[in-house]
Amino acid sequence: MKISFKKNLKNWCEENRWTPSTLADHLGVKRQSVHNWMAGTSTPNSDEVVTKLFLLAGDDLIEFENTEDRPKIPRKNRYLQIIGGKELKGEINIPGAKNAALPMFCAALLTTEKCTFTNVPEISDIAVLLQIFETLGAEISRDFDKKIVEITAKNIDPTKLGKCELVKKMRASILILGALLARFGKAEIQLPGGCVIGARPNSAHLDSFASLGVFVDADENKISLEFEREKFINKQVLFSEASVTATENLAIFCAGIADDSELFFTALETHVTATLKMLQKMGAVIDGLGTHCLKIRGKKNLKGGTFEIPSDGILVGTYAIAVLITGGELLIKNVNHAELMSFYGALQRTGAIFELQKNALKVFKSPNLKSIKKLQTSIFPGFSTDLQSPFGVLLTQCEGESLIFETLFENRLIYLSELEKMGADIQVLNPHQAKIRGKIKLKGANVQSWDLRAGAAMVLAGLVADGVTRVSNINYIERGYENFAENLRSLGADVINIEE
Ligand code: EPU
Repeated sequence: MKISFKKNLKNWCEENRWTPSTLADHLGVKRQSVHNWMAGTSTPNSDEVVTKLFLLAGDDLIEFENTEDRPKIPRKNRYLQIIGGKELKGEINIPGAKNAALPMFCAALLTTEKCTFTNVPEISDIAVLLQIFETLGAEISRDFDKKIVEITAKNIDPTKLGKCELVKKMRASILILGALLARFGKAEIQLPGGCVIGARPNSAHLDSFASLGVFVDADENKISLEFEREKFINKQVLFSEASVTATENLAIFCAGIADDSELFFTALETHVTATLKMLQKMGAVIDGLGTHCLKIRGKKNLKGGTFEIPSDGILVGTYAIAVLITGGELLIKNVNHAELMSFYGALQRTGAIFELQKNALKVFKSPNLKSIKKLQTSIFPGFSTDLQSPFGVLLTQCEGESLIFETLFENRLIYLSELEKMGADIQVLNPHQAKIRGKIKLKGANVQSWDLRAGAAMVLAGLVADGVTRVSNINYIERGYENFAENLRSLGADVINIEE
């Protein structure tokens, strides 16, 4: 079997805590062989050793010259098993937000200097993005114990992503385009994939690039962009909707071009603002933060620096709901209240008992939860679509009938069919609206995650249900929830990861 390494073996060993000697022992080879592979002077050539290494590292590390040689490994069935009915008590510290880290990391591709990120969550979307950066040629150092990631994109090659399949794993890979295009005048990626929450066209991104004079060539397999000028011919982007990632992508692009531009109807989510603040710190001049209109004076040769990933409001909401449905008391630390005001408003209307403290939220046992007339998702500062499914679970535990109106995505009510399997009283009116009647004693069932947030919602339902709930497709949950099972266990829940 002939193989090559998709990424530097030394980095892979560091990330996975193997030393050359422990790896050599495990594979039954001399330590010098491992050093040679790390130095790139040879690759493993025995079938037995290649298979053992593949079992450890899989497709992330190893590429087979002949794809037929790839060992067929039976896929493990992985799920979360929850035994409901336990009260949650204690404290939890909220890590950095996935949806801030992803665009901020992409902004690091604008500069040849090192960017250091603190408060980085250890989740699979971050791991995938960093692997994509390594394919580009970026130097990455990760220390998740300290929550620090360093990215140096000095020697990246924008042509390296044309065949990179990892890009297909998540929709946020599209955020790479703005930085590569600004720095190199061209960018090409495979068509990004992601959660199944709706049509989510890429047009908000591609039409906006085109309106600034970028040549866009996109089909069902790839996106190719080229920009040949130093200056924009048209300097304005008029977004048709306040798209979060399109705002980030275009702001990153405009920050890296030595010219002025204006973006209208931009998104205001906290993670968008965090990315804009990073671009400011790197040297771009940006006016209009916190409004729907940005004026950007970009420049070449932006600087690196140290940037903190802001805390994840979606996690705050998820853990708060976990306590409200199970009883108990929880202190949630590292909370940015400003991004959660609509969530707090909705909680208040259910009669939930909670207290806003300095950078923290305390949630108390709330025995008399009542339904709310309408929970309507909206762009910021409205109620976040990402908290809609966890809140749907809360509504099953509120007395009376509530209406959910999911305005953004057309597939984000599918989780309700899973909740029905657990005994919830649900009436789906159309792809965007459903009624939930409570209070219902949920019962354990085998259910699946339909997307990242819906997966977390099913775990919440399991916490309050009678008996055993098994939630499958947990790879979705791992995309955004750091140590979800462990954290819930530390608060007293009975949740375990099972692999069989
Ligand atoms: N939309 C509207 N009206 C608007 C804005 C958007 O209807 O004013 C619709 C659009 O049609 C679009 C959809 O909502 O198809 C998605 O909106 P957006 O383009 O803002 O979403 P996104 O940028 O693709 C980001 C987050 C999502 C989050 C949405 C909405 C990242 C990497 N992703 O996606 O996060 O749901 O914004 O806030 O930031 C998640 O973390 O689970 C997740 C899916």
